Amino acid sequence: MKTEVLDLRKGKEGPSISRAAELLKDGKVVAIPTETVYGLAASAYDDEAIKNIFIAKGRPQDNPLIVHISDLDMLKMVANNVPNLAYTLAEKFWPGPFTMVLEKNDDIAKSVTGGLSTVAVRLPANEIAREVISKAGLPLAAPSANISGKPSPVSAEHVIADLSGKIDAVLCSADSSVGVESTVLSLCSNPPRLLRPGAVTAEQLLEIIPDLVVDKAVLEGLSENDTAASPGMKYKHYSPEIEVVLVDGDSKKYAEFVNNADNAVAVCFSEDSGINVKKYVYGSKFDEATQAKNIFGILRQLNNEKGKTAYVHAPSKTGIGLAVYNRLIRAAAFKVINL
Ligand code: TXA
Ligand code: MG
Repeated sequence: MKTEVLDLRKGKEGPSISRAAELLKDGKVVAIPTETVYGLAASAYDDEAIKNIFIAKGRPQDNPLIVHISDLDMLKMVANNVPNLAYTLAEKFWPGPFTMVLEKNDDIAKSVTGGLSTVAVRLPANEIAREVISKAGLPLAAPSANISGKPSPVSAEHVIADLSGKIDAVLCSADSSVGVESTVLSLCSNPPRLLRPGAVTAEQLLEIIPDLVVDKAVLEGLSENDTAASPGMKYKHYSPEIEVVLVDGDSKKYAEFVNNADNAVAVCFSEDSGINVKKYVYGSKFDEATQAKNIFGILRQLNNEKGKTAYVHAPSKTGIGLAVYNRLIRAAAFKVINL
């Protein structure tokens, strides 16, 4: 298949967005920019189109997709019996990097939710994403636009590297400003449950939901007997082609450790000094937002370090740092060294 490249960076705004919307109305699969990561979109009502998303990504069929809407009116096209709490949260966090799991509307294609009775819904902040959705006039199911298991794409080039020849089109725009996927909150659990941390932080949610539960899978691997509240959490994720290990400890101990490890590359903070091996800096240790923006790009660059092991200096688990930690611990297949 030839993938049509619609590049908004070349100044053809109007026609490219309309073309993407036309393709989506026609049952095609199109990668689109969002503020979190690029998404691989198709009509949430079209079972065949959704199946093509799963095929292009190589995604397990029981891992449900997030449905994207362009305004609050569209919510009723997607979800039933929406609780008042959802509207309170929508007012505060939409449009934005925030997804709510709600009771599913029957019009949503079965393959979107992998047979679940619930649906995950997001109203993105990225204006291009919203314009595509509103021009198509359809809610769009869109997982991250990467090959399943690989780091999520934060630039059009990441999407093209993974999916060129496998999807109908890619709408290229600026790099994603947040850099990690949306926060996923289930309102179908009582009390509400944080399934995936993101740029809308646990601290922010606790101000509105004092009895918020943070799912165990946010920081730990699931054992074989556990059932996943969010099916995505049980799969291997975000992995470059080399081994990744998370290393927790102060700057001095971290430098000593990587300098003495075999075949090491360091993924570290700008404050880390005295490192004698090749290093990739993912931000200041005090600036979790920059860490989030950089981390998936660096995980992709690590593919150039064949035969090495990447030792990542572990971020804090506060604010958006919890999201960075959650992605890194999966990239590391839960290997953590405490110094
Ligand atoms: O920021 C994002 O959320 C990006 C952009 C494109 O919007 N999308 C994204 O989609 O990250 P994806 O498919 O890579 O991750 C969706 C996550 C998975 O962990 C999935 O298991 C969970 O949301 N999920 C989807 N529907 C669910 C449901 N009904 N119940 C529980 N978890 C659900
Ligand atoms: Mg994903």
